[in-house]
Amino acid sequence: MPRIHLFELEDQAWFPRIIRDFATDYLHFMERRFRLHEPVVPLLRDALRESGSITVVDLCAGGGGPIADLQRDLAAQGVRPRFILTDRFPNLAAFERIAAEHPGIDVLATPVDATDVPATLRGFRTVFNAFHHFAPDQARAILRSAVTAGQPIGIFEVPERRVWLILATPLLTTLLVLLVTPFIRPFRWSRLVFTYLVPLVPLTCAWDGFVSQLRAYTPAELDALAAEAGDPSYEWRSGKVRLANSPAHLTWLIGLPRRSAA
Ligand SMILES: C[S@@+](CC[C@H](N)C(=O)[O-])C[C@H]1O[C@@H](n2cnc3c(N)ncnc32)[C@H](O)[C@@H]1O
Repeated sequence: MPRIHLFELEDQAWFPRIIRDFATDYLHFMERRFRLHEPVVPLLRDALRESGSITVVDLCAGGGGPIADLQRDLAAQGVRPRFILTDRFPNLAAFERIAAEHPGIDVLATPVDATDVPATLRGFRTVFNAFHHFAPDQARAILRSAVTAGQPIGIFEVPERRVWLILATPLLTTLLVLLVTPFIRPFRWSRLVFTYLVPLVPLTCAWDGFVSQLRAYTPAELDALAAEAGDPSYEWRSGKVRLANSPAHLTWLIGLPRRSAA
């Protein structure tokens, strides 16, 4: 089916920060609970080794996504980059908590736009579950910005443009938010209020989740974006991996400066 680019609430500058933060906390919780980072570990491990990068600059980090789990599992395989969490709308409470609990994960409190990353921010760029937020022009700008700065980049996405997933997402997400919210930390009365009394968090997650599936890119579309944005000094790879114990997949794209160019 064709890609449909509707708006996501959490992308809107006017959207209340507290609801955006609770929505990204929910994503962070689900990614950790269902270990969605697992297929990323070998891909990122090999790409970090190949590129020689010792820093990972995570763009669109939201509530931290899978970074703490990736740090632990990469370290178990002898790969110990420093991580920097960034976002255009930083979830500061989550950033500060993750940085405090995980030495080696630093955060930027100032906004970083993934389409225009400051040249001083050097390292392997990652985008987890956020690339679908960007229409093709902006998506190309993200890839081009990495190429221009000579930095490697990895895109990792769970949203998928499959009809049954698109149809199931609103109801499934609403139920999941209602079920897991009591287990999301830190405990906040306001989280319960905006989930059960004034249900803005489940509605946001359901709408943004639905729109995310409609906006997801296929590996072939990622390849085409990379070909248009990239340059011959970069090598691009992409693929799709089945998530363990799930019918869903992880779609990925990795771009590395070729050794001769590097
Ligand atoms: C679906 S969340 C993904 C969060 C996280 N990476 C994860 O895996 O849970 C998308 C994030 O993209 C951020 N975002 C949206 N537009 C952005 C932009 N132009 N530059 C950087 N971040 C952006 C939003 O603030 C939000 O935190």
